[in-house]
This record gives sequence, structure tokens and C-alpha cells, in this order.
Amino acid sequence: MLVFAHRGSSGVAPENTLSAFSLALADKVDGIELDVQVIEGVAMVIHNNWLQGTTTGMGRLDQVSLDYCLTLDAGDGQKIPSLEQVLKLVAGQCLVNIEIKAHNAEEVVVAVAKKAVNEFGFKAEQLIISSFNLPALKRVGELAPEFPLGALTANIPLDYAAFAEQVQAKTIHLNRDFITPEFVDDSHKRGLKVYVYTVNYVEDIQLMLEMGVDGIFTDYPNRALDYLSSVEK
Ligand code: G3P
Ligand code: MG
Repeated sequence: MLVFAHRGSSGVAPENTLSAFSLALADKVDGIELDVQVIEGVAMVIHNNWLQGTTTGMGRLDQVSLDYCLTLDAGDGQKIPSLEQVLKLVAGQCLVNIEIKAHNAEEVVVAVAKKAVNEFGFKAEQLIISSFNLPALKRVGELAPEFPLGALTANIPLDYAAFAEQVQAKTIHLNRDFITPEFVDDSHKRGLKVYVYTVNYVEDIQLMLEMGVDGIFTDYPNRALDYLSSVEK
């Protein structure tokens, strides 16, 4: 079962910052997950489409300048990183799940992902692009079929995992609260791998293993990796 650091090692460092991603790399995770919003045409790594909560700033991202955002503290003196900065840091050392949060971010995300393949040492298959916005995901697939797509859902759709086939996703990313053995089996029968978010407790990690889940997103990758190595012995 793959372990992805959710927003980096966000249980021990400020989420979606270079320090959270550096810690995840030090933990030797299989992958990191990050959230992308667009500020003045630049793909930036931040979860919400407003600044309050995770930074010292205030305002909606479509109403603030990039210069202003770059002055803000995103926790422990960290800045809001760009997608390009994070990919340069990771440099192909692990998988990266780029979650598109913004509207109309497809072109800008694809451009940075292509640059990461050409200049930062990634293979295209290491860059998993996901979104709850399935039309946006479909558009990414049309623009750049080389990147694996992850179809995100927070619930169990009536058609189980069938919706993911419409965007030709390789993986389906489901909320921990809704995972069932039936959903996992249905996904696997369709050739889709199942990744679950957000799985922070050992009891839950064990449950995911029992259900045959293929990957988890966790705020505490260290804990998950320790547990997995203890049961694999
Ligand atoms: O990509 C998995 C997970 O991060 C989706 O939800 O809200 O934590 O970005 P959220
Ligand atoms: Mg996310």
C-alpha cells in the first residue's frame, strides 16, 4: 500500500509548504499530495481559495495580487510555494499527486508538469493529476495524455467507480468515511486503483490494508510507514 504525505507531512509541519514536503521526502514516502490554486496565472500550492486560515493574509485568491501573497507567512516562516518550486524540490524522488482545486487551471498545471518532466527529473507517470472537477480532469487528459489521472470523490456515486472511466482515470481517490469493500472490489474489477484520504490512525491504516486499498493519503506518513513495515515483517 502506497503512502502519500497529504499536503506534505502536514501533521508535523505547516500544510502545503516546502518544509512539509521536505519532511515527507526525509520520511521516504512513496508520494506527496498537494493542492493547486491559481493566482494571477501562476499555479500556487494552497488548499483554500482564500488566504485566511493557512496564511497571515486575507482575501480571495482571485482578488489579491501574487506579490501580496508572496509576502505572507504560511506557517513557521514558510511562504506559499509555487507548484514549480515544489516539483523542483522533489525532483523525481517520489510520486506527486497534483490536486487541481482551481477553475481553469488545466493549462497552467499541465505546463508546469511538462516542465517538471523536461527539466526536474520526473517521469510523466510519477505525476498524478487529480480533481473533484471531472470536466477539468478530462481536459487535462486531452491536453496531456501522458499524465495519470486520479478521479476524486468525497462519497460513493450511484454507479460506484464507473464515473472514473469517463475521464480514463488510472486511480480513484475516495474519502475515508465512505470506503467499503464493495467499492474497492468494483474499482479493481474496472482496472482502477483505489487511494483513500485522509488516513491518520493505525486502526484505519489496518482497515485499509484489509480492504485491499492501494494507497493512502496521510498527514503523518512516518506513522503509516512505521506501521506498514511492522506488519510486513
Ligand atoms: O487529494 C486527496 C484530498 O486531499 C482531497 O481533499 O480537501 O484534503 O484536498 P482535500
Ligand atoms: Mg488535497
